Amino acid sequence: MFSHERIIIRRGPESGLPIIVAVHSTALGQALGGCRLKPYADWRDGLADALRLSAAMTDKCALAGLPNGGGKTVIVGEHSPAALRDAGAVIEELGGTYATGPDIGTGPDDMVTIGERTSHVFCRPVAAGGSGDSSPGTAVGTVAALRAVCSDRFGSSSLAGRSFSVLGLGRVGGRVARLLAEAGSKLVVADVDPAKRALADDLGAGWVTPEEALTAAVDVVVPAALGGVLTPSSVAALRCAAVAGPANNQLDARATAGLLHERGILWAPDYVVSAGGVIAATAVELRHESPAQVTARLDGIADTLAGVFAAARRDGVTPSAAAAAEARRRVASPRG
Ligand SMILES: NC(=O)c1ccc[n+]([C@@H]2O[C@H](COP(=O)([O-])OP(=O)(O)OC[C@H]3O[C@@H](n4cnc5c(N)ncnc54)[C@H](O)[C@@H]3O)[C@@H](O)[C@H]2O)c1
Repeated sequence: MFSHERIIIRRGPESGLPIIVAVHSTALGQALGGCRLKPYADWRDGLADALRLSAAMTDKCALAGLPNGGGKTVIVGEHSPAALRDAGAVIEELGGTYATGPDIGTGPDDMVTIGERTSHVFCRPVAAGGSGDSSPGTAVGTVAALRAVCSDRFGSSSLAGRSFSVLGLGRVGGRVARLLAEAGSKLVVADVDPAKRALADDLGAGWVTPEEALTAAVDVVVPAALGGVLTPSSVAALRCAAVAGPANNQLDARATAGLLHERGILWAPDYVVSAGGVIAATAVELRHESPAQVTARLDGIADTLAGVFAAARRDGVTPSAAAAAEARRRVASPRG
């Protein structure tokens, strides 16, 4: 079903590259979604990503309780200031109905370049007037989500003594692992980058291969690297009680949520878990909130997840289906 409000596909006048901006929904307010820059083999693959990811942002913002909808920018090709300026010009044409931020292939510094053409841009470096890297907010929100998962699965939100396997020690996963270690959790961790082993040693965490991390006998597996880690075969091999992490698009297909449910493994929808970045950026840059207010909003992810788990139980559906239904309800009745 075609559900996007507006899609612009343009050959950038400065870069010659395909620039795609998809606005999925502004029903709740200005659409938000990062700028992905990637040398796709075919620009139509970039369009498919823009359509899918902008729709996912609508659900993410709705469940985060933000007065925002979903959008996405995709630049097809190699990184260059000209390509970023081209994207900025398209975003400016949308007149503030959509604002962008960093995503795969772009970072806070690139938002300054996009900002040469439009003011509708988030997460510029703090020195340039933005809120900077969003991963600290994403990490704090993820830990709030893990408390909700432990509360639902084990009857206590305490992280002390609980065991976690963190898959990917990047900007978000590395911070999540540190926060868990500080909370007294038992940790095993993995990353394809051997240099990350130093962090594991620093935290007193066990270092295992990515395959071992996914199938570790722990309370919660925390995917914090790439998407698509939950497949019929990987789900069959899981030995944890729950899976909850910030990695985007963890399920290879929607039906895999049913396989997790059948195995009695609690799965927290990734777009609820990873909303801390957009929550923090909008709280700081749009609403000028204090650090205490931002922290309270990030802690709110635990309440949102608890609501999703309760609705899933009440309706006899997976948390994935319950979250999607709640997002649809919120978008359909903006004031409800
Ligand atoms: N940064 C944010 O604010 C944010 C917000 C929402 C969602 N996310 C999602 O969270 C995930 C992590 O984001 P990030 O910003 O920390 O990225 P990052 O690139 O900083 O870190 C990813 C880490 O995963 C490792 N890795 C890659 N493939 C791996 C594999 N197969 N097994 C184990 N480790 C592997 C990399 O070496 C790297 O250390 C991504 O899926 C991202 O889309 C991030």
